[in-house]
Amino acid sequence: MVNVETQGLRKSFGDTQVLKGIDLRVPKGAFAVLVGPSGCGKSTLLRLLAGLEQATEGTILFGGEDVTAHAPKDRDVAMVFQSYALYPHMTVRDNLAFGLKLRKTAADIIAARVTEAAAVLGLEPLLDRFPRALSGGQRQRVAMGRAIVRRSKLFLFDEPLSNLDPALRTQVRVDIRKQHDRLGATSIYVTHDQVEAMTLADLLFVLNEGEVQQAGSPLDIYNNPANRFVAGFVGSPAMNFIDGCRISSDGASVLMDGHALPLTAPEHTAADGLADREVCLGLRPHDFELAAAETDALSFTPSILETLGPEVHAHGALNSYQGVIAMPAEVGLQRGATVHVRPTRWYVFDSETGVTLR
Ligand SMILES: Nc1ncnc2c1ncn2[C@@H]1O[C@H](COP(=O)(O)OP(=O)(O)OP(=O)(O)O)[C@@H](O)[C@H]1O
Ligand SMILES: [Mg+2]
Repeated sequence: MVNVETQGLRKSFGDTQVLKGIDLRVPKGAFAVLVGPSGCGKSTLLRLLAGLEQATEGTILFGGEDVTAHAPKDRDVAMVFQSYALYPHMTVRDNLAFGLKLRKTAADIIAARVTEAAAVLGLEPLLDRFPRALSGGQRQRVAMGRAIVRRSKLFLFDEPLSNLDPALRTQVRVDIRKQHDRLGATSIYVTHDQVEAMTLADLLFVLNEGEVQQAGSPLDIYNNPANRFVAGFVGSPAMNFIDGCRISSDGASVLMDGHALPLTAPEHTAADGLADREVCLGLRPHDFELAAAETDALSFTPSILETLGPEVHAHGALNSYQGVIAMPAEVGLQRGATVHVRPTRWYVFDSETGVTLR
């Protein structure tokens, strides 16, 4: 295992700048996840780490060693792609062994490693099959196995689960994390699925348009998003954003539809020149509780109810805005029946820059 660092990594294709100065720090043995919307540069970043693309600018360090100019074969990196890229004319056993054969590893070592990887991944009964006779999940495990037999110090995953059905996705996701913990390797995993990102990561990097928006533990990012983009991307259902709110002139609260939501440390709010500022208010769907009608609460009228067993996601009118709230099913929300709710937590974003203010 190895720690991975990039410094000011940039990549352009022609005139298009795809990565705009990426500084990653992934400690030895960590499971790091890069998450971001389609086209933000995740695969490009992974390909740069693997040596499949050359950086336009910047440095890549593995264990403190500058590998920016190293060829892929000299980086000792195992990459698992979305398309498993198994050799169709080879059995599972030969697929597993192939990378080691190329490296002229001794036959008895190859056999031992293949046996071990097959045991770890539950592939023993499948060793003599061809890829066409495997399910998507089994193919995914063979692809993992090819990485495992190499004993690589760094695993790179590019959306390895996107071809699997939801149940299998969850199962293989847990498998991948188990293997990582067992092998003690360093892993960097790319996904645009934020549930996958939150559940797998020790360390999460949220990317947008070729830049890291925030890095940290999933929970810290969820609780303390640096800006509106991160706040909207991490968390499901996504945070409600209410534009056109205002900080009160004493800095003590944020005003939404005439409702005052108190701010902590109002003296700072005023001192920072935020009083009277127009802001965007952020309310997570899970941060609501029911309130008595006569209190100073918001009204909520569900128009669509999504029932997920223990929990209901209700889309509807939150005062004069459209919003989503999540409630336990036993609350018994009804379509068209107005209830009163109170936010238990709120975020305030700069209307122009999107930076988190409070
Ligand atoms: N070889 C290339 N030549 C030109 N443009 C490219 C090349 N590879 C990627 N790009 C562009 O770089 C941007 C980032 O692509 P990349 O594949 O890294 O995105 P991504 O975050 O992995 O997206 P997705 O989630 O859809 O896989 C895209 O706009 C893409 O069109
Ligand atoms: Mg990609």
